[in-house]
Amino acid sequence: MKKRIAYCGGDGVGPEVVAEGLKTLKVISDYSDFDFEFKEAPAGGNVYKKFGKSLPDQSLEIIKHSDALLFGAAGLPDLPPGVGEVAVLEIRQGLDLFVNLRPVKLYESLRDRCPLKNEFIGEGIDITFVRENTEGLYAKKGAVLKDDIAENLMVVTRNGCERIISYAFEYAKRMDHSKVTSVDKANVLSPSMLWRKIFHEIGDKHPDIEKEDIYIDAFCQWLIRKPDSFQTVVTGNMFGDIISDEGAFLIGSLGMAASGNINPGKVSMYEPIHGSAPDIAGKGIANPIGAILSVKLMMQESFQSPDIAQLIEDSVEEALNEGRTIDLKNPQIKTLTTIEMGNLIVEKLKMSLKR
Ligand code: NAD
Ligand code: IPM
Ligand code: MN
Repeated sequence: MKKRIAYCGGDGVGPEVVAEGLKTLKVISDYSDFDFEFKEAPAGGNVYKKFGKSLPDQSLEIIKHSDALLFGAAGLPDLPPGVGEVAVLEIRQGLDLFVNLRPVKLYESLRDRCPLKNEFIGEGIDITFVRENTEGLYAKKGAVLKDDIAENLMVVTRNGCERIISYAFEYAKRMDHSKVTSVDKANVLSPSMLWRKIFHEIGDKHPDIEKEDIYIDAFCQWLIRKPDSFQTVVTGNMFGDIISDEGAFLIGSLGMAASGNINPGKVSMYEPIHGSAPDIAGKGIANPIGAILSVKLMMQESFQSPDIAQLIEDSVEEALNEGRTIDLKNPQIKTLTTIEMGNLIVEKLKMSLKR
């Protein structure tokens, strides 16, 4: 199967981790029925410095004509906040990628790096955040920035709620989850009131799946207090951004978490949930697993290949017993560079694809 993959390292650690994601894709291309063709679509802060635009039209065209995009990170500390990052938002809005799928799973091999005590870890952590990705405070509607006043409208539409909440219930069904949790702030915010109403309307069409709603503030403590009580968690754009970073650290490191920015059946973007990590960029020590697991999500969601997706995840889990990047440091386990970590995982994947 021929597939065109667009890729963009972006800024900071982005290119370092995307290189490892690309290695993963190349091994799949070499040892399976997939035949990947790669094309770079430059974007981000460094591109802005050169061309005055973070997402050049040409890059967007390359992305639109691909089957999927592997992205690194955008944003540079020597540019004003948002200048490089806007590329990510323009891709999400431009391709109408309304789902931001952000699974976090605590591997047995990483229990030592979970910041929670065992009594709080309970049965384990395996949560998928389904973040709405085009609306809410990110809708860019009615934005005002003057000397003494700044505003962003939180825009939520019936159609926007229906499509993401339906996706969450269908995802839960596909993953055999028995419950969908909705996170909102319906006790204060009108957009959340509409969201909650629609959550129940859609939920009622799925009587086999339990539904619960929790306010965002209380959810932040439940996520630490009883993470094993969550399976699929659906929420709006801003809350989803925040709680997924919290979830990522619960599984060991922000560098572990992957995401898919998805419009089912259309070109979608896969990226680690972390940013350009300027504090470690250029040192060769970033954890590439968020990017490699983003390739896993690409295989699972865009290329309908759950078997290869599983092999990638198994390779990651196995590799973590033998070596880790410094963010997951354990004195008993060898510390590896970004490239060494990628190589270890890709070697394991190659072996299982050959079988
Ligand atoms: P960040 O995610 O870049 O880093 C937060 C912390 O996590 C840092 O200490 C960093 O070293 C660590 N970290 C992140 N990725 C890691 C990895 N792969 N391995 C090991 N450690 C890792 O968040 P920030 O510092 O708030 O943001 C830096 C820049 O990235 C900003 O410009 C921000 O806007 C941007 N950003 C971009 C995206 C994106 O492109 N989708 C996402 C988040 C942040
Ligand atoms: C993320 C990032 C982005 C967001 C920024 C960089 C625009 O934090 O992908 O989580 O807020 O969605
Ligand atoms: Mn974020």
